[in-house]
Amino acid sequence: MILYRHAKLSDAEAILSIINEFANEGLMLPRTRSGLYEGIREFIVAVENEKIVGTGSLHIIWEDLAETRTLVVLKSHQKRGIGRKLVEILLQEAEQLNCPQVFTLTYQIEFFEHLGFQLVDKKKMPQKVWKDCINCIKFPNCDENAMIINLK
Ligand SMILES: CC(C)(COP(=O)(O)OP(=O)(O)OC[C@H]1O[C@@H](n2cnc3c(N)ncnc32)[C@H](O)[C@@H]1OP(=O)(O)O)[C@@H](O)C(=O)NCCC(=O)NCCS
Repeated sequence: MILYRHAKLSDAEAILSIINEFANEGLMLPRTRSGLYEGIREFIVAVENEKIVGTGSLHIIWEDLAETRTLVVLKSHQKRGIGRKLVEILLQEAEQLNCPQVFTLTYQIEFFEHLGFQLVDKKKMPQKVWKDCINCIKFPNCDENAMIINLK
């Protein structure tokens, strides 16, 4: 059985290892250890037999916008609904905060379409969205797709 819960500090190394495994394949952006610890309270983890098999985070951008970040499920556990469940939990958290819109920057267009996100023109996203991008290895040549979901 898969359990979903907020991350603990003791989960950080396992989270980092999953993220960087996929980042090495160019499927997602790498995270630094310090950045992960600073943001650990934003993370939800999926746990099976005490092992972290997936994770995702919700980052608040502004009064009406949040971002799902760093969503990843171990290859051995993909296509079992874990990614969907992680996103659903993150969207519930956004709703609890009265946040009306959640976006993501992603290569996984079809996956997020299945969850109700729609593609949007990156240029139409508010400037606040790009604040952290300056630290990204791809800046300023971002090739990810912006997708958004309205919760209201
Ligand atoms: C993207 C990812 C998180 C999906 O996780 P998952 O647990 O395999 O996804 P789920 O099993 O919950 O799938 C949910 C739905 O999306 C669909 N889906 C999943 N991956 C898909 C893909 N690559 N392309 C198209 N549809 C996909 C599933 O068929 C399912 O549809 P349904 O619920 O209507 O049957 C996982 O493939 C992953 O970790 N990929 C590598 C890292 C990555 O790219 N992360 C995204 C960064 S933004």
